[in-house]
Amino acid sequence: MRIIIEKDYNSLSKTASLLVASQTVLKPDSVLGLATGSTPLGMYNNLIEMYKRKEVDFSKVTTFNLDEYYGLSANHPQSYNTYMRENFFDHINIPPSQFYLPKGDTENVTSECYKYEEKIAQAGGIDFQVLGIGENGHIGFNEPDESLNVQTNLVDLTPQTIQANSRFFDSFEEVPKQAISIGIATIMKAKKILLLASGENKAEAIAQMTSGYVTTKVPASLLQTHQDVILLVDEKAGKLL
Ligand code: GLP
Repeated sequence: MRIIIEKDYNSLSKTASLLVASQTVLKPDSVLGLATGSTPLGMYNNLIEMYKRKEVDFSKVTTFNLDEYYGLSANHPQSYNTYMRENFFDHINIPPSQFYLPKGDTENVTSECYKYEEKIAQAGGIDFQVLGIGENGHIGFNEPDESLNVQTNLVDLTPQTIQANSRFFDSFEEVPKQAISIGIATIMKAKKILLLASGENKAEAIAQMTSGYVTTKVPASLLQTHQDVILLVDEKAGKLL
């Protein structure tokens, strides 16, 4: 694992956007795995600015997001689908048929998970996966547990995650208690992985995911067994390294 420690959130976001942009230059039809949350927002903003300056082209790129809240429709204001359109897709030249998120309001969740997994495989797998990390070490919505899902699945969110994500909702009660998340193997099969973390509240999770031990109690620790991971943190998130 390569560790890059940037001074602050702005320089972390800049480096992240350059890494994504260079992936699309090296392989214009790249399959990107994308993440939501606060952390990648700066990266998305920089990529939008680069697109406006014609420095990056997304017309041949395909993207798959990590997860979606179960029960929320694509147009729900707090869905990850809305987040991705508002913060990224609406501002770049990716055709709508080339970005995918799990369908949160599906009537058949088993088949939705299976189909999502299949679509990723048909696209040739993920070339470049962007990840954030939960304070509890989750990646996607793969929460710490005795065992982890291999493939895309419906998952229960932990109270800690519901609490952390309630900042985007009017109340704790409104946060969906379940999500559809791609599995650990789906992430681990990505050819390259870029994990972003910013702020002191992530420092403990970052220390644990680089501890030299692998445990399902810290899902991100499994990334230590992947051969091409860049861990990109700011000084605050990296302060225990
Ligand atoms: C959510 C997402 C994760 C993300 C995490 C961290 O739980 N499902 O993919 O990495 O939040 O979010 P933030 O960047 O807002 O701290």
